[in-house]
Amino acid sequence: IPVHVNVLVPKDPMDTSAGLESNASELRRVEDTYDIYGVFCQPNSAKSSGSPHNVLQLLVHRFSYTSQYWSPPVEEFRNYSYAAFSCAQGPYSSLAVDVLGAGLSSRPANASDVQYPTSSAVLSQLARLLKTRNAILPGVDAFKTIIGIGHSAGSGLLTFGTIVEGPQSPFDGLILTSLLSSLNISTLPALTSARDVDPFRWGSLDAGYLSAGNHSIFYPPDPSSFSPRMVLLDDLIEDVGAVSIVVQSGTISLVSGYTGPVAKIFGSADQIICAGSDACGDVTALTAAEGALWPGAKSFEVVVAQGSGHDMNLDFFAEGTFNMFVRLVKQFSDFRD
Ligand SMILES: *[C@@H]1O[C@H](CO)[C@@H](O)[C@H](O)[C@H]1NC(C)=O
Ligand SMILES: *[C@@H]1O[C@H](CO)[C@@H](O)[C@H](O)[C@H]1NC(C)=O
Ligand SMILES: *[C@@H]1O[C@H](CO)[C@@H](O)[C@H](O)[C@H]1NC(C)=O
Ligand SMILES: *[C@@H]1O[C@H](CO)[C@@H](O)[C@H](O)[C@H]1NC(C)=O
Ligand SMILES: *[C@@H]1O[C@H](CO)[C@@H](O)[C@H](O)[C@H]1NC(C)=O
Repeated sequence: IPVHVNVLVPKDPMDTSAGLESNASELRRVEDTYDIYGVFCQPNSAKSSGSPHNVLQLLVHRFSYTSQYWSPPVEEFRNYSYAAFSCAQGPYSSLAVDVLGAGLSSRPANASDVQYPTSSAVLSQLARLLKTRNAILPGVDAFKTIIGIGHSAGSGLLTFGTIVEGPQSPFDGLILTSLLSSLNISTLPALTSARDVDPFRWGSLDAGYLSAGNHSIFYPPDPSSFSPRMVLLDDLIEDVGAVSIVVQSGTISLVSGYTGPVAKIFGSADQIICAGSDACGDVTALTAAEGALWPGAKSFEVVVAQGSGHDMNLDFFAEGTFNMFVRLVKQFSDFRD
């Protein structure tokens, strides 16, 4: 889907404020039309009346991953595919996108074009497009309600969009998984220029595109709570992300003027956020700290999913979180009727 964006980004891609604190001379304009790839799932019942076919879930993967997070090619696509699960339960349509620079979406030659303002504008502009006209396939109408569901940095991009756009955000509800507003980026797994990680695949990329090596931190510490095959698969579907998307992630600790409903979901065994720290032990305190950044939200809740790791769709607790997502999508789309 061609998506046009026109934004200001900091000239310095290492600017941690993503340009929000810059004066005009420190900014430059990025105006371009990017091709955004997505995997669309539409319930069979969408063709009959009475189904919530005017609701679309826009699914946004994490840093250095792709849309395959939402339908990983293991176990014949059963058990771990939220796209399939929500198409059957609900049932709700979804579009799982590859973010700018990842997977089969456009990858600007210069990684410094891929910053928080560009990547989040792509998601907002895409949502606007999908609400105004049929942009996906012949016979698929425009959608009335779009719920953004993010994972990790994908949640960060959705959050940043609402910090910039406030009540003008095109999203009718947000489900933000695996993203703590006070995340200390120095605790993130080491990231290396993708061209050094895998010269065969990524040797020609700008050094500003990074990739993660070992994936074990994305799973719970208890090895009986996920399939070893899933971790192997992870190495195969690993992708790249631009360095700015890491260094600008602190901007999500700014207050958002968003007015729709918001839920944040954490895995109690998330080794980046919860496990080995006291960040998620007191859900009341966590809800108060996170909720303070969403003062105008129609509703705000925090859920700590027991047992789940950072990649909460990919371990044995996935079905529990999938049921929670569907419950929230139903709740958020009912708000709109
Ligand atoms: C913009 O900020 C830079 C760096 O902080 C500073 O050197 C420059 O004088 C500022 N320019 C204006 C017009 O304020
Ligand atoms: C995976 O899904 C299949 C079919 O839905 C089910 O029979 C099986 O128990 C599931 N496996 C796990 C580990 O949940
Ligand atoms: C990327 O673009 C920026 C801004 O236009 C420029 O300063 C930088 O030199 C470019 N980098 C490469 C590798 O072309
Ligand atoms: C972030 O983590 C690093 C390494 O664990 C630590 O040295 C630093 O003090 C932390 N920063 C904050 C603001 O907590
Ligand atoms: C990944 O890291 C974990 C924990 O540090 C370690 O146990 C495991 O052997 C590593 N895997 C690979 C393939 O290096």
